[in-house]
Amino acid sequence: MKQAIAILDSGVGGLTVVREVMRQLPREEIIYFGDTARAPYGPRDPQEVRQFTREIVAYLMQYDPKMIVIACNTATAVALDDIRAMVDVPVVGVIHPGARAAIKITRSNRIGVIGTVGTIRSDAYRIALESISPMVEVYSLACPDFVPLVEQGLYRSEEALHVVERSLEPLRGLPLDCLILGCTHYPFLADSISQVMGNDVRLISSAEETAREISTILYQTGRLERTVELPVHRFFCSGQPVTFQTIARQWLGNQIEVCPVVWQVP
Ligand code: SIN
Repeated sequence: MKQAIAILDSGVGGLTVVREVMRQLPREEIIYFGDTARAPYGPRDPQEVRQFTREIVAYLMQYDPKMIVIACNTATAVALDDIRAMVDVPVVGVIHPGARAAIKITRSNRIGVIGTVGTIRSDAYRIALESISPMVEVYSLACPDFVPLVEQGLYRSEEALHVVERSLEPLRGLPLDCLILGCTHYPFLADSISQVMGNDVRLISSAEETAREISTILYQTGRLERTVELPVHRFFCSGQPVTFQTIARQWLGNQIEVCPVVWQVP
C-alpha cells in the first residue's frame, strides 16, 4: 500500500510545489488540500492561520501520509513548529528551502523578498536568511494583491501585469540580484514579475528546493517509493472546485481531477 505525501496550501499556490514534486519524485503519490474557501491566509490573524493549518493537517492525517508539506509561506511562518509537535511524520515548510535557494544564487548578498502581509510581518525570511549567512541585506515587501488574482485564475491577464507593476514599484532601482517569491502563489505571476524587475534580478521560487528537501528526507528515512505503478494523486479543495480544477489542469496537466465536497469548513 502506497503512503502519500500530503501537501497543503490556502488555495492553488501549493500546486507550484506539487509540480516540482511530480517532476523530481515521479513515483510518489500526492494528496493535496487547497483551502480555497478560506483563502487568502495572508491578511489573517496568525492564530487563525495556525488553527486552519491544524484542521487541515488533522483532515489529511486520516489518509495516513508519510509526510506533511506546508506549501504555504504564511502557514509555514506561523504554524510549522505547531504541526511538527502535532504529528509523528516529517513536516516540511517552504521558507527555509526558499532562503537556501537564494543564498545559493546571490552574488551581491542583496536579496529581495516578496510575500503576503502575514509572511512579511513575521520576518521569517529575514530570520532564515540571516541564520544561514550574516552577510545578507534583505529588502522585504508585502504584495497583498497578488494572491486574489491567482486564486481567480487571472494570472495571465493585463490586469495582473498592472497590479504587479504597481505593487513592485518600491523595489525597482534597488541593487538586488535575486528576488524570493515568498508565497507559493507568486510563481503563477513569474512572467509579469520578471518583466517588471528586469533580467538582472533572478526570481527564486522555493518549489524546487522544497522538493529536493522532501526527496532527501524520504531517502534518509527509507521512505522513498519504490513501486513501479504510476501514482494516483488526489486533490481536494474546500471551496467550489471549478476554478481550482481549471488552474490545476493549466499548471499540472489535464489528468487532474479535483474531488469536490470532502471538507466541511467548521
Ligand atoms: C495566502 O493565502 O495569502 C498565500 C499563501 C502563501 O503565503 O503562500
